[in-house]
Amino acid sequence: MSVIYKLKIDFKNFTLDIPELELLDQGVNVIWGNSGSGKSTLLKSLVGFIPSDMEWVVGDVDLGKLSVRERRLGLVTQDSAVFPHLTVLGNLRFVLKSRSIPQENWQELIQKTLKQVRMEEKLNQRALTLSGGERQRLALAMAVISNPRVLLLDEPFSSLDFNVRHDARQLVLSVIEALNLPCILVTHDKEDVEAMAQRTIQLSEGRIDSQK
Ligand SMILES: Nc1ncnc2c1ncn2[C@@H]1O[C@H](COP(=O)(O)OP(=O)(O)OP(=O)(O)O)[C@@H](O)[C@H]1O
Ligand SMILES: [Mg+2]
Repeated sequence: MSVIYKLKIDFKNFTLDIPELELLDQGVNVIWGNSGSGKSTLLKSLVGFIPSDMEWVVGDVDLGKLSVRERRLGLVTQDSAVFPHLTVLGNLRFVLKSRSIPQENWQELIQKTLKQVRMEEKLNQRALTLSGGERQRLALAMAVISNPRVLLLDEPFSSLDFNVRHDARQLVLSVIEALNLPCILVTHDKEDVEAMAQRTIQLSEGRIDSQK
């Protein structure tokens, strides 16, 4: 269990106010709510893109006191940033370099991660030429390759075709299980909740409406 305390963000026309929230440190915590309820704001605050005074106690560390980089979180969004002109390999190398992962570990990490997301065949293909589903798998690989503490997903399936969503969900579940990685999934798709949630937190107008 990790616990968030005193997360308050005041925008001009919107307030996110979460005095306390417990998250499972295994499996998928789903943050669910209507458009504009504050789901992405919550995720961005957790990552540290939106500064706040929150505490987020994971084990014996308060991530709220750490920089974005020190928090060591993996983030995938609906339109995740991959470098289109770089190959799959080039994108993964970029992450490993920017996270200062020792170079002697790169090859093993790249192979292991590409296998997990079923992209071994695509190693030398430019991201520009990947399908939407493949690009999301590359984004997932980029988020997990540096061994994050928690994987954060913001509507990762919403741009995917209905037919590949099922596979994408299963893939995420298998990756987080293999890596023993807790996950926070933001969605407004009821099917994501049904297929993936160990815990469901419903947001409404910036507040927790219900949780189970
Ligand atoms: N940087 C900002 N400055 C001012 N207002 C903001 C900012 N970011 C978000 N908001 C407002 O906060 C509210 C919540 O936005 P948020 O993106 O968190 O919603 P959401 O639940 O992720 O919605 P969706 O399902 O559409 O992605 C919205 O009213 C939005 O306009
Ligand atoms: Mg959003």
